[in-house]
Amino acid sequence: MYFGVDYYPEHWVYPYAGSPENPEGRWEKDIGMMIAAGVNVVRMGEFAWGLYEPEEGKYNFEWMRRAMDLFGKAGIKVVLGTPTAAPPIWLAKKHPEILPIDERGLRKHEGTRRAYCLNNDTFWEYSQKIVRALAEALGKHPQLIAWQIDNGLGGHSTEASFNHETERDWHAWLKAKYETIQRLNDLMGLRFWGQTVARFEDVPVPRVAPTVHNPALLVDWMRFSSDTIIAYARMQANLLREITPGVPTTQNLRALTRNFDHFDMAEVIDFVSLDSNAAIRARSAELASEIDIMRSLKKANIRTPDGEDGFWVIEQKAGHVDWQDVNSAVRPGVVRLFTYQLIARGATGVLFFLWRQPRVGSEQFYGGVLTHDGRGENRAYLEIKQIGHELKQLAPALKGTKVEAQACILFSHENDWDLKFNLQLNRHFNLREHIQLFYNALHDRNIAVDFARPTEDLSKYKIVVAPSLHLLAGGEADLLKLYVQNGGTLVATCNTGLVDEHHIAPDTGFPHDLTDLFGLEVLEFDPLPPGEDNHLTHKGLFTATHLHPARLWCDIIEPKGCQVLCTFAKDFYAGRPAVTTNEYGQGRAIYIGTISTQPFYHDLVVWLRQLVGLFPLLKVPDTVEVSMRQADGRKIYFLLNHQHTPVRISFFKPMHDFLTDKSITGNFDLPPHGVLVLDERT
Ligand code: GAL
Repeated sequence: MYFGVDYYPEHWVYPYAGSPENPEGRWEKDIGMMIAAGVNVVRMGEFAWGLYEPEEGKYNFEWMRRAMDLFGKAGIKVVLGTPTAAPPIWLAKKHPEILPIDERGLRKHEGTRRAYCLNNDTFWEYSQKIVRALAEALGKHPQLIAWQIDNGLGGHSTEASFNHETERDWHAWLKAKYETIQRLNDLMGLRFWGQTVARFEDVPVPRVAPTVHNPALLVDWMRFSSDTIIAYARMQANLLREITPGVPTTQNLRALTRNFDHFDMAEVIDFVSLDSNAAIRARSAELASEIDIMRSLKKANIRTPDGEDGFWVIEQKAGHVDWQDVNSAVRPGVVRLFTYQLIARGATGVLFFLWRQPRVGSEQFYGGVLTHDGRGENRAYLEIKQIGHELKQLAPALKGTKVEAQACILFSHENDWDLKFNLQLNRHFNLREHIQLFYNALHDRNIAVDFARPTEDLSKYKIVVAPSLHLLAGGEADLLKLYVQNGGTLVATCNTGLVDEHHIAPDTGFPHDLTDLFGLEVLEFDPLPPGEDNHLTHKGLFTATHLHPARLWCDIIEPKGCQVLCTFAKDFYAGRPAVTTNEYGQGRAIYIGTISTQPFYHDLVVWLRQLVGLFPLLKVPDTVEVSMRQADGRKIYFLLNHQHTPVRISFFKPMHDFLTDKSITGNFDLPPHGVLVLDERT
């Protein structure tokens, strides 16, 4: 199993380390300490363009080659980043047109990173040149096992720019999509406010304007900006495949926080990598959902350096971050706990960011594996060393295992953009929070969850949850019906099917194209301000442990054949359906016409679990997170205690503890932040 660190050899030369006689003298010491911690891979070079090419066309890859050679002697493999995230100053000086322009028409300047417009031809040419030069110089190095494309594409809100070339590409994109200007005017609904155009070149770029832009135009703009980033990544991936066909490509993504289509991106790269700030999350379920989202981005055609069917965590933060208001020290055991959470949910490679706290630069006080002193006596180093040793022990058992989920939550970026950037009926509604309510309930019952786009084949899932697919394409609606028709159980919610892929509202009732699936029609929406709740009256089909509120959004529903599970308790729609179920084909479609609080979703999951036959992985106290990786009948359980206090677990049959190689039976006290990795072997 790959276990490693993100290393910046360029930070550790004279005058910051080494000596005038031996400026790179520290590298060997670092490598020795890495070996002692069980490191077998490093990622390097993703910001090194200005050092690789200090003057235009004058390349110097030799320092990196020397570093790679040293790693070679130690048997440590290398992932190299293409360095395009940080263009050199000389490039911006020579070609200021590569710098991005924002929606107010202001240029963002050089001097940090990501200062580029991805539609700019000059930037593409220079990117191709440096990627080619790098791949030709170091691509055959025996240590190289993967390429990381750029770094954090789209990060720091750099997903879109408003340059002249962007406008040019936007118009070409629209032309390819709509073909005729008439179609564009009609499908985008530009006759609203009389904003029709006569030529593609006249379609506005959504710059700052007195009021809101046409929602269809805005969603298209997001699609276009996403396609732009994907095209740039694809350009690099293709170039790398041409020069080094045997070396897989990856990219360090974050869990859907950036505004491009991550599923599309996952198709471009060979395996998904993720940046994780594990230690700063208050709720372990939030982090778990992020990991599950990332694992779900690429479900097929995965090509990792060791052939495992997984994803990597290429930046697992070794300690605190540096960008919160207060960056407290990470508590003992927490990095280990969250590293196991990643592995439990399918990670097959973990690298810590960053090897040592840099003595210079804007990330000077970011938590590292080593502190500034570089002595290796610090807490983080010792904890990570422990993880390194444990993983060596676990690796043979984990080989070939992966997470298999029977439940799935749907997510589409187009819908997310629509809900984020266009006017909504309730500004207090938040899609991620809505998804999280369902996710938490499944997570807290230790039910494995995948995420998927609505266009994926959902047939393997016993249950599919579709929170608020406000923008739902006609084709997506058909696929949901097909899933249920063939025996699936679908749970959908309010704020679904309000517009189609062209952002046109239906004239056939809400949710569009799905009224027959749910056996109902939503006649009106009643979004509620925070604190002004309605309530649910249960009809007894599933047990309600609380009086569940109906918050933020109430659908006024006309039943048309569905069975009513809950009604609203008050207001002019008192007694009308709030939660319903409908038999359709061989399956059932459940509709929740409101949003409640967490206990409702817990009750719902208890009911659904029985309904579709989902079983908890192990019987453990609620505060223990359980996940499982499996292969050919082998099942490996991970038990994580996220509490600051010990938890007593009762094992009714003996289990084998991989970390101690002992058998556990009866009562076992899992210490605070403790981890168990078990199988049923005795
Ligand atoms: C990552 C980035 C790293 C570092 C880190 C800080 O997304 O790839 O280079 O800047 O964020 O949070």
